[in-house]
Amino acid sequence: MNVIVGPFLTFIIGINVVTSSKVLELSDKFIDISGEGVWFVKFYAPWCAHCRRIEPVWAHVAQALYSSPIKVAKVDCTRFPAVATHFKVRAYPTIMFIKGEFWHQYSGERLKDDMVNYAKRMVQPAVQRVSHADSLGYLKETHNIFFGYVGKQQGPLWEMFSNHAEKYQAHSWFYALSHEIAHELNPPNDSSVFVYKEEETFYFKANPEVLEDRETLNNSLNKWVNSERFGFFPKITRSNINDLLATEKYIVIAVVLENKLNEITQTERDFKDMIESIIRSNKQELHSHFQFGWMGNPELANTIAMSELTVPHLIVLNSTTSHHHIPDDDPVLMTPEAVSLFLDQIHKQVAPTYGGNNWMVHVYRGFFETRTTLINMWHGNPVLTALVFGLPLGFLSLICYSICCADILDADEDEEITETHEKKD
Ligand SMILES: *[C@@H]1O[C@H](CO)[C@@H](O)[C@H](O)[C@H]1NC(C)=O
Ligand SMILES: *[C@@H]1O[C@H](CO)[C@@H](O)[C@H](O)[C@H]1NC(C)=O
Ligand SMILES: *[C@@H]1O[C@H](CO)[C@@H](O)[C@H](O)[C@H]1NC(C)=O
Repeated sequence: MNVIVGPFLTFIIGINVVTSSKVLELSDKFIDISGEGVWFVKFYAPWCAHCRRIEPVWAHVAQALYSSPIKVAKVDCTRFPAVATHFKVRAYPTIMFIKGEFWHQYSGERLKDDMVNYAKRMVQPAVQRVSHADSLGYLKETHNIFFGYVGKQQGPLWEMFSNHAEKYQAHSWFYALSHEIAHELNPPNDSSVFVYKEEETFYFKANPEVLEDRETLNNSLNKWVNSERFGFFPKITRSNINDLLATEKYIVIAVVLENKLNEITQTERDFKDMIESIIRSNKQELHSHFQFGWMGNPELANTIAMSELTVPHLIVLNSTTSHHHIPDDDPVLMTPEAVSLFLDQIHKQVAPTYGGNNWMVHVYRGFFETRTTLINMWHGNPVLTALVFGLPLGFLSLICYSICCADILDADEDEEITETHEKKD
């Protein structure tokens, strides 16, 4: 198929097809033809290290989407800056889903499966209707998490579900099912919304008084969808931490240190597994108040805690106040019971609280981050650091010196003038 499509595309739109990776290389002409078909495009610059890092991943994405209608491509923005300007690209690499007038920038992890799932979702309608009786089993097998609507496809709840499906399409799957098809999930008789998450089903429960008020119902559905769209124990990074904080739950984080090959030590692995086992064995009680997860890089946790945490560590964030909680005991020695007790104290608001959002904390956090950045810079490249800070300092001292000297000269003159005045007097 590649043999036929390749030369054909090259001929029509000036694309050089790199047959081995199946990633299409685009040029300026892309601006004119981007409205045709569905595109998944990586905007890159050859000098950018992050771009080079995802190069092999991007080739795998292209391979995985090869039989789909989604065309996986890349644009070298240094050679074709007009394309970057047209699509308002601000950073490299930018990954964008383009379907006619609709553009959407991918913001998730740059992992093959995440990107492939994202593209497959974006190409479908936001809510997909399930009509085949066996489909539920298939969905359960193929998706870790999906949202479902059960009942007649009309009325306020249906409209809100459809709206939120569009809003969160980039992050999750949304399906509409009949009562018969959803039967084994024991749906209530009325229309209802559920999330199926790692083999467990949770129904959206609105307060009866809220049901009357559309806006409140809509807001609570919005909050619920946003807080349920994460797995029970996701990896927490800079790209999803803000979304996690929007869940308004306590965020319970196991902090470990991954090396370049994404490996961690046995002690850290045991600790991480122990924390994960707590949520897995108490999903129904814990998950409405606590979102668990783990971090492979203590830097982000240090910024939150404003100190150098040893790894492994446990940190719990209050997502509404930005306060955090750290256990008094050495986390490595904690048992699941001790951790559960600690969480219970946090929930009852009797555990010691640190940080927060007041100005003192902001100033200190700023200071801590600057210090960390400088230290990292010094470790990374002492010569460059010395130059960056040394040169301006050198200039500054020159300027100071000349200002001071000028002052002294001026002062002398002044004095002389007064002296002459005195003499005249
Ligand atoms: C739901 O419907 C079934 C069958 O129509 C009925 O037996 C059951 O009582 C209903 N449940 C509720 C809570 O209305
Ligand atoms: C519900 O909220 C979403 C955004 O959260 C909004 O797009 C939608 O228009 C709202 N729908 C209704 C029916 O109020
Ligand atoms: C965070 O702290 C506030 C104030 O102490 C409290 O009202 C809230 O329940 C706490 N929990 C979360 C998850 O926000």
